[in-house]
Amino acid sequence: MTDTLTPILTRLWDAPESWKLSTYEQHEGYQALRQALTMTPEAVLGAVKDSSIRGRGGAGFPTGLKWSFMAPPDGGPRYLVVNADESEPGTCKDIPLMMANPHVLIEGVAISSYAIGCEKAFIYLRGEVVHVYRRLLQAVEEARAAGYLGENVLGSGATLDIVVHAGAGAYICGEETALLDSLEGRRGQPRLKPPFPGAAGLYARPTSVNNVESIASVPGIIRNGADWFKSMGTEKSTGFGIFSLSGHVANPGQFEAPLGITMRELLDLAGGIREGHRLKFWTPGGSSTPIFTEEHLDVPLDFDSVAAAGSMLGTRALQVFDETVSVVRAVARWTEFYQHESCGKCTPCREGTYWMRQIMTRLEHGKGSQDDIDKLLDMCDNILGRAFCALGDAATSPITSAIKYFREEFEAGMHTPVDVLFPPEKSMLF
Ligand code: NAI
Repeated sequence: MTDTLTPILTRLWDAPESWKLSTYEQHEGYQALRQALTMTPEAVLGAVKDSSIRGRGGAGFPTGLKWSFMAPPDGGPRYLVVNADESEPGTCKDIPLMMANPHVLIEGVAISSYAIGCEKAFIYLRGEVVHVYRRLLQAVEEARAAGYLGENVLGSGATLDIVVHAGAGAYICGEETALLDSLEGRRGQPRLKPPFPGAAGLYARPTSVNNVESIASVPGIIRNGADWFKSMGTEKSTGFGIFSLSGHVANPGQFEAPLGITMRELLDLAGGIREGHRLKFWTPGGSSTPIFTEEHLDVPLDFDSVAAAGSMLGTRALQVFDETVSVVRAVARWTEFYQHESCGKCTPCREGTYWMRQIMTRLEHGKGSQDDIDKLLDMCDNILGRAFCALGDAATSPITSAIKYFREEFEAGMHTPVDVLFPPEKSMLF
C-alpha cells in the first residue's frame, strides 16, 4: 500500500476472521458507539453534518443534511434503512465491505439510528448475495448478544433492533422508494418524490435511506472527529471512498483513497492496463455514468470535478476497457441490462429502453440503418429528464457518451458486425 491509500473501511479486510465481533473489538470496534451514547443525538448528527460527508450510493447528497430533513419527532416510529441493494454494473464495494467487516456497518447503523431517533433499522440487501445475508444475520446476532443492539444498548436506555431483509434481485429496488415499496411487501416500483422518504418513507413514516458505505463511515467520523474526515478529500467532496477497479487492469480490486484522487493515480496503484494493451474507455461510476477516455485520466475523482468533465462520480465503479473491446458491444450489453431491469412503470423508460436495445442489437450485428445513430440520440433526448426515476436517465448515459467519443464505431455498425472488427477471442471481456 502506498501513502495515497487511506485504509479506513478496508483496514481489517486482510485480518484473520475479519468479520468476527472479537476481531472488530480488538481494533477499536464499537468504541465510537460508546462515545456516541455519551453525546446527545443532536451532537452526533452535528458531527456527521460537520464532516460534510456526501452519500456514497452514487448521488452524493449530503448525509447529515438528509438526516436533518427528516420530519420532527412526533412520538411515532422513525426508520433508518440501509440501501445494500448494490446492483449497478461494475459496482462491487458494499458487498465486499459487508463480507469482510459487517460490524463496521452495524456500528454505523447503531450510531446513525441514535442520531435520528430510530429504534428499528433495516438493511435491505440484494437478494442474490446469500453469503452476505448469512454473514449479516450472524453479525447482528453477535452484536445483540454483546449488548450493542436490543433494549437498553450498553446501559444507555437507547433501543435498537436491526432487520436484515434480502430482496428478490431487482435493480430497480436500489432506487430508494422502490426499495421501500419492496420492503413493505409490494412490487418494487419508484414512488413520486416529493414527499421524500425523510417526510414519508417506510410505512409513511419519516425514514432515512442511506448507502452501506455512508453508514459504515459514521463510526470513523465519531471516533476521529469531523475535522479528521475533512482533512481528506477535497473541499466539497470530503473524506475517502472505496474505488473499485475492474476490467483490463493488471490488478483489479478495491482501492480506498481520498476523493479527488485521479484515475491515472489509481491505475498506477492497480499496476496499469494489462500488459501490451492501452486504455480505450472507462466508467467513473458504473454504467450509469457517461464514459470517459484517456483524456480524462487526470480529472480529480470528486463529485464536482467529474460533473464538470461531463460525467458523474456515481459509485466509483471504475470499469476499464482496452483497445480490444468494441464500445458498441459494451454499450449493447448495458442497454440490454437497463431494458431488462426497467420496472415498466413509466413509458419513456419502458418503451425507450426496448427500442434502444433493438437498435443496439442491429448495430452490433452490422445491420444498422443510416438514421440509427440519430434515432438513438433522439430517443435518449426523449428519455433524459422525462423518466419517472434515475433508471431511464442512466440508460441514456452510455449511449450518448459513447457516440460522442466513438461515433465511427457506431457508423461501422451499419455494415460490419462487431465480431469482425473486434474478434471476441482477442478480448478478455464480452
Ligand atoms: P437523487 O439525487 O434524487 O437523491 C439522492 C438522495 O438525496 C435521496 O436519498 C433523496 O431522498 C435525497 N434528496 C434529494 N433531494 C432531496 C430533497 N430536496 N429533500 C430531501 N432529500 C432529498 O438520486 P437518486 O435517484 O436517489 O439516486 C441516483 C443515483 O444512484 C445515481 O447517481 C447513481 O449513481 C446511483 N445508483 C447507484 C446504484 C448502486 O448500485 N449503488 C445503482 C443505480 C444507481
